[in-house]
Amino acid sequence: MTEVVKVDPENPDAILLKKAAEIIKKGGLVAFPTETVYGLGADAYNEKACEKIFKAKGRPQDNPLIVHISSSKMLKNVVRDIPEVARNFIEKLWPGPLTLIMERSEKISDVVTAGLNTVAVRTPSHPIAKMLIELSGVPIAAPSANISGRPSPTSFDHVREEMMGRVDMIIDGGETPFGLESTIIDVTKEPPVLLRPGPLTVEQISSIHKVLVHETAKGLYSQARPLSPGMKYRHYAPSKKLILVEDLSKILEIVSRFSDPVILCPKEHAENYKENRVLTLGSLENEYSIAHELFKKLREADKIEGDVIIVEGLPEKGILFSVMNRLRKAASEVIR
Ligand code: TXA
Ligand code: MG
Repeated sequence: MTEVVKVDPENPDAILLKKAAEIIKKGGLVAFPTETVYGLGADAYNEKACEKIFKAKGRPQDNPLIVHISSSKMLKNVVRDIPEVARNFIEKLWPGPLTLIMERSEKISDVVTAGLNTVAVRTPSHPIAKMLIELSGVPIAAPSANISGRPSPTSFDHVREEMMGRVDMIIDGGETPFGLESTIIDVTKEPPVLLRPGPLTVEQISSIHKVLVHETAKGLYSQARPLSPGMKYRHYAPSKKLILVEDLSKILEIVSRFSDPVILCPKEHAENYKENRVLTLGSLENEYSIAHELFKKLREADKIEGDVIIVEGLPEKGILFSVMNRLRKAASEVIR
């Protein structure tokens, strides 16, 4: 049985969230909103509870979880030490959509880290996530609250569709503000390595400290051994074939090859595809709106009629670099 509670994302009711915290403390699973996407949480110190996360998502055992914390005391409990460069990122960017990879403490089990000696940690800024961790009194291990391989959930409806009956509680906190998963940096390396681009852009991160942008951060297939176990899996795959067209001079010809394509493009370009089904993906004037709508529109494109999804490539700077990472990982074919 899955209980659903609706909580005001700006001003969460502590009485409602206490029920959720009780579930976490007893080893149950709670899906909750963060400023990035919805997470599927369990007590990070409880191995059995964390095992349930993998089962509910159908997640491969070798893909480690992110541990969500709410204080520097919790941080000291989950990592072995805090590198100087991490202190710098933490001071400037936490709480927020940034995950740091550090050496794990002995309190964090192999189930959470998939046997690695490092752990991914982040302090979310979303009021519901923050209060839930505080009331639980323990760090919360949480991957995105989707079935493995599906787009990350950015609204309560997405979570309900996939997690009803699989978890103990879903907190309905409306839409998640960024709609894209956190930026991940491995700070055990010098220079630190950016493994996954997210809401905090490469430009923003680099203005704080020089980072190496790992090749797979572009989202293109790489022969290199993945630094982050999650990188080797195809992600966010819709069930329709998805063609990402980066060379826009080829797109009309590609569109003409299909009888009923669904086009995904920024609203400024919608009129180029008057004969077709078009789903607009935010506006080029507000690049964060494109990130915010990405997963929602991928799900929608999959549900409506049409034989293929054709997505316009975007300029690879700022937040759109992160959007392109997700699109390339979702694509069955990339035209460059
Ligand atoms: O915004 C987010 O990060 C969301 C919310 C819920 O916080 N969470 C999220 O979790 O996106 P997930 O599990 O979908 O993605 C976590 C990624 C995976 O690619 C995983 O392989 C990587 O982080 N990861 C976790 N621990 C790691 C470690 N010790 N070293 C390298 N990569 C790690
Ligand atoms: Mg995920």
